[in-house]
Amino acid sequence: MKFDVEKAKPREIYNLLIGLVAPRPIALITSMDENGGLNAAPFSAYNYLCTDPPIVGIGVANRPTDALVPKDTARNIRRTGEFVVNVVTEDLAQQMNICATDFPAGISELEMANLETASSAVVKVPRIASAHAALECIEHTTLEIGHSRIILGRVVSIYIEDEYVDPAGPYVRADQLHAIGRMNGMGSYVRTRDSFMNIPRIPYEVWKNGKE
Ligand SMILES: Cc1cc2nc3c(=O)[nH]c(=O)nc-3n(C[C@H](O)[C@H](O)[C@H](O)COP(=O)(O)O)c2cc1C
Repeated sequence: MKFDVEKAKPREIYNLLIGLVAPRPIALITSMDENGGLNAAPFSAYNYLCTDPPIVGIGVANRPTDALVPKDTARNIRRTGEFVVNVVTEDLAQQMNICATDFPAGISELEMANLETASSAVVKVPRIASAHAALECIEHTTLEIGHSRIILGRVVSIYIEDEYVDPAGPYVRADQLHAIGRMNGMGSYVRTRDSFMNIPRIPYEVWKNGKE
């Protein structure tokens, strides 16, 4: 099948892209409005983009009902300039999904999902207490592109529970953290438990000698 992007409906492009650019990490983002009200929502149009400086990027679509109204997360970040990416692991999957529900104004996703918060080290926005790792971020730029916003955040502090850090690197013990990934728009996720394969990088000298 071929899809002409110019002729396809935005929803069709969305469905195809989120099924093909997969698996994706999930950022459960906590943010704060001007009055200190807390918000939590998951985003899988998310990745780190560079590490020096450390920048993460998040794609946030405007609300589908009105192309001009940003989601609360994007609006809060523009207004208060801070957010926290809480890493989504298997044990947070159901609560993460509750946070994606479009509750009426005034209802807290954190309360609905029974999630407690804990103070961050640098930013005012708290992290989720039960998240095993979190990135505290300050907004670097928000790009408005069509009906979406791309938020670039500079990571200013990294929280990770000791047991998930191999101090030798330091490396993340990814085989124990059990992060999950989003696979498509049909509610499919991937576990990372028991699914590791190790592929060491090949220095050119080793490659060359192997060929001789
Ligand atoms: C796993 C998952 C990933 C999601 N990723 C995105 C995303 O990358 N961009 C987006 O705009 N919405 C995404 N959503 C939908 C938002 O989480 C949802 O619209 C949420 O209600 C927005 O909340 P807010 O208005 O409080 O920011 C995702 C939902 C789920 C369940």
